[in-house]
Amino acid sequence: MKAYYDRRAPEYDDWWLGEGLFADRDRPGWDEERSQLAVVLADLPPLRTLDVACGTGFLTRHLRGEVVGLDASERMLELARAQAAGATVVQGDALSLPFDAGAFDRVFTSYFYCHLEEGNRERFLAEARRVGSELVVVASIRREDDLPVRWDDRLLKDGSRWTVYKRVFEGADLAHELGGEILFKGRWFVVVRA
Ligand SMILES: C[S@@+](CC[C@H](N)C(=O)[O-])C[C@H]1O[C@@H](n2cnc3c(N)ncnc32)[C@H](O)[C@@H]1O
Repeated sequence: MKAYYDRRAPEYDDWWLGEGLFADRDRPGWDEERSQLAVVLADLPPLRTLDVACGTGFLTRHLRGEVVGLDASERMLELARAQAAGATVVQGDALSLPFDAGAFDRVFTSYFYCHLEEGNRERFLAEARRVGSELVVVASIRREDDLPVRWDDRLLKDGSRWTVYKRVFEGADLAHELGGEILFKGRWFVVVRA
């Protein structure tokens, strides 16, 4: 997953914006819901927040308070430094967070938990609970024809092909799994706070 996302960094936001290889995707209501998601995140109380696997900072920039973005990919972080200029960004491993216990009030993570296989999921959750008291997770809602767990065949603009593990959720099942509550659920995105 690390190598794939590092290579994908310059074209990553195309997915959020429906551009590039995603220009032809039929995603009714996607743009409106992406804007709603930004409002939900901006409305979270401003706290010391760690955005784990922040990527290009596409969502990081909406978080208020003292925000640190962490990612494994230096190419992602280079983009995050510009896009989420208010946040401090650091390179690190989400499964072994380089912070003291209780260093944050909130751990936020978007489109990272859904890529973790069993074992790494537990490692991440243990790390998130060690460094922060609250966990907020953003993930995809399961569409009717979606398998809940799958290995996606992914293509990048340079023609390279990758296989990526991905889970999608009903919403309530993610809340149950994390022992939390749904903060937002639309047609595309779910936000759970635990
Ligand atoms: C699907 S992207 C999500 C990016 C961003 N959170 C968003 O929602 O736009 C997954 C991110 O996880 C990062 N990543 C993958 N494995 C990681 C790890 N072990 N530690 C930290 N970051 C990791 C990748 O570099 C990538 O930026």
